[in-house]
Amino acid sequence: MDLKPVKVALIGSGNISYTYLNTLTSGFKIVEMVGCSDLIPERSKARAELFGIRQMTNEEILSDPEIEIVINTTQLWNHNAVTKMILEAGKHAYSEKAMGHDYEGAKANYELAKSKGLFVGCAPDCYMGSAWQTARKLIDDGYIGIPIIAYSQCMRGYGSNERPFASMPDPMAGTHGTTVTYDMGGYYLNVLFNLFGPAKRVSGYSKTFKGNRTFVNTMHPDYGKPFDSKGGETIMLGALEFESGVYGALVLCSEAFNPELPKVDIYGTEGHLTLPDPNLFGGWDNTVLLTRKGNPHEVFKVPFTHGFSDTDPNVPSKSGKREPCHNSWRGIAVVDMAYAIRRKRQPRSNADMALHTVEILDAIDKSNADNKVYELKTRPERPAMLAPGRYGSVTVMESSLDT
Ligand SMILES: NC(=O)c1ccc[n+]([C@@H]2O[C@H](COP(=O)([O-])OP(=O)(O)OC[C@H]3O[C@@H](n4cnc5c(N)ncnc54)[C@H](O)[C@@H]3O)[C@@H](O)[C@H]2O)c1
Repeated sequence: MDLKPVKVALIGSGNISYTYLNTLTSGFKIVEMVGCSDLIPERSKARAELFGIRQMTNEEILSDPEIEIVINTTQLWNHNAVTKMILEAGKHAYSEKAMGHDYEGAKANYELAKSKGLFVGCAPDCYMGSAWQTARKLIDDGYIGIPIIAYSQCMRGYGSNERPFASMPDPMAGTHGTTVTYDMGGYYLNVLFNLFGPAKRVSGYSKTFKGNRTFVNTMHPDYGKPFDSKGGETIMLGALEFESGVYGALVLCSEAFNPELPKVDIYGTEGHLTLPDPNLFGGWDNTVLLTRKGNPHEVFKVPFTHGFSDTDPNVPSKSGKREPCHNSWRGIAVVDMAYAIRRKRQPRSNADMALHTVEILDAIDKSNADNKVYELKTRPERPAMLAPGRYGSVTVMESSLDT
């Protein structure tokens, strides 16, 4: 049965809009990308021309009765307000991560969506990529026995808590919930939810590093100037207990010397998995490595069981400029949401999972302040695995999402 395509528009035509528009205009049958907007019209004009869609205003998007999903790719501190606007217009929302910069704001949108029968999905969707689905299959099929410990770390070295690609300074940037810890935490938490389901208890430490810092990002307009910390957490260390019994360690830091040192290691009773950067879908030099009991000195590179691998980063972007993550499949959770609408099921990346992430990050912070362990209120379902074995064309990979 041919399903009616779902019309989609995007608000916030900055850096990351490139990869969304690239994915969503690459031939998925269930999605029709209609247009994009930005407060800075030159940005939406450039994106609209590049991808053959309409340049629109926010008002045009929100009042178009045919548009069903609106993507929110504004900056993190605008997510709560823009998602609220989308939901109030009666449309399903898909936001860049995190769902909001505080639990209360994200929770208000969660309630609003539930009351209106609308979906709210949230990035990152890298966990739907080939490496993460393969890792999940290995774990579910018992290759590492009973999983015991998940160790994850995002070690970055910005020397400041501004995003490296931030295209303009903003008074909100650097305040609570807008820094790298909140920005990057979702990548790590989503891959862990995919592997183990929801967490139930959290404790941890968090702080704002008070070093004598300058902006070290050469792309930032304030490069070289002193950096004034605004209190956002730049170092977080969380201890998680998953409902499935697995213990997880989550280290998020933007103050180390490395530009980036991502890590996810899963230890089980029968084996060990070393997994790639959760910011990537997998593929292109990103491998799933397995060591098994009985053969402890041999590391096996496991062939991917699923599609949606990163493509060659050396192939230039369509704009001819450097576009972040231009070789990734960011946006496939929107395709999944479109199927969820037509099939009347929950999207894999849904409001429960999005709020769970924000609750965990806030709980680490609260645990530090109150010296307490937090019992989490949110308990999302583990997202369903994509259908394995469907790689190759976009059409074949698309069929793995309609499951
Ligand atoms: N840049 C990256 O590498 C990257 C990667 C993955 C995810 N993200 C996430 O994507 C989001 C956006 O990041 P970015 O780097 O693209 O930021 P950006 O500053 O380049 O783009 C955001 C755009 O949103 C617009 N905007 C803000 N409020 C608006 C409103 N009310 N209506 C219409 N437009 C509005 C801004 O004018 C700006 O052009 C962030 O949450 C970020 O964490 C970024």
